[in-house]
Amino acid sequence: MMLQDFKKNSQKFETPLYIYDADKIKENFFAISELITSTKNRIYFAVMCNSETEILKIIKSLGLGVQVNSEYELDLVNEAGFNSSDISFTTTWISKELMKRLITENIEVNLDSVEEVEKYCLLITNKKFGIRIKISEKIKINSNGATNLFSDSNVWIEEKDLKKVIEIAKKTGNKINGVHWYFASNVLDTELFIEFWDFLTNIALGFSDLEYINFSSGFWIKYSEEDKDFDFEKVLKYYSYLTNKLSEIFKKEIILKIEPWRSLLADAGTLLVKVTNIKSLNSKKSEISVNAGFWELARPKIYKSFHEIKNLEETWKPKKIYDIRWNTALQDDFLWRDVELEVTDEGDYLLIEKVWAYGFVMASGFPGKKLPMQILVNGNEIKIL
Ligand SMILES: Cc1ncc(COP(=O)(O)O)c(C=O)c1O
Repeated sequence: MMLQDFKKNSQKFETPLYIYDADKIKENFFAISELITSTKNRIYFAVMCNSETEILKIIKSLGLGVQVNSEYELDLVNEAGFNSSDISFTTTWISKELMKRLITENIEVNLDSVEEVEKYCLLITNKKFGIRIKISEKIKINSNGATNLFSDSNVWIEEKDLKKVIEIAKKTGNKINGVHWYFASNVLDTELFIEFWDFLTNIALGFSDLEYINFSSGFWIKYSEEDKDFDFEKVLKYYSYLTNKLSEIFKKEIILKIEPWRSLLADAGTLLVKVTNIKSLNSKKSEISVNAGFWELARPKIYKSFHEIKNLEETWKPKKIYDIRWNTALQDDFLWRDVELEVTDEGDYLLIEKVWAYGFVMASGFPGKKLPMQILVNGNEIKIL
């Protein structure tokens, strides 16, 4: 179904409406997996992105694993039919009760601190686990308001503590079989990626029981024409090169793992909103109000991010400058200011692009709204989620 069809059928659907395209996720998955040349590898879908059963089923049908970050997500992926061997559990601070569950269900876990390793090792013997490593302070990152401001954070295990965790594992008869790190997904400088992954790979050499290296995610996508492209090919090929090198050194196949979210989904989702009011500001500029706020799409407010926006009216119209705001009681609830858009009338539908990642999952319903509707378009089939 073409997006324009939603306009014709708009009575059937409420707006604001998140529209997801199943074919695009599949296309993104194949594009990413094609670039990985390491023999043994696994791509994990970060579930915090969207835990709807229908989405998880698509993910499962593609053979992806799932990166889970909470107990609730664990229930959801179990319900969707994932096996324990498909799940990688990575989060900050895990309670003893949850650790016991992960152990009973035989789920791979990446631990975040010396204390956590101590606690986990008291519960296990003859088991394996992974650890999350903190980036070296020597690598200077300009994260441009990234989701991951690691330098201000106390999570992850520092380089100076690695000997300590190896010792704890050894003493308790356990093995550290994986290293993991998460890289902020608005770092575009591929040289920085290479510098960091060289650092992590060198660290990985110190783990004699190594079975996997998890480069996690952090692949930017192009949100607007002005945005620079992220060189996926260079980065993924470099990951493969490093993993193959580790396999040679360890004389066994080391598994390359990644956990994309944004790069798998973002451009497979759009948000359809309706123009409810127009106020003329001067001869050149008007203010448009639409029926969605940052409670439906938080990214512009939190990250000052821009998303391409277009009017779904089919007839050609000249462009004009608009401020676009949400229609709520707050006065500073602008989405974007000074946006060039086809001349827009009350009742028009606007389509906001590339909003799947960090879109609906951040919607809160504040103030006094219900959550937006979500639909999945899979070929000719439309499912309301
Ligand atoms: C451990 C982990 N893996 C993967 C992701 C997904 O990252 P991205 O949105 O950069 O693809 C996140 C996001 O916060 C994460 O914390």
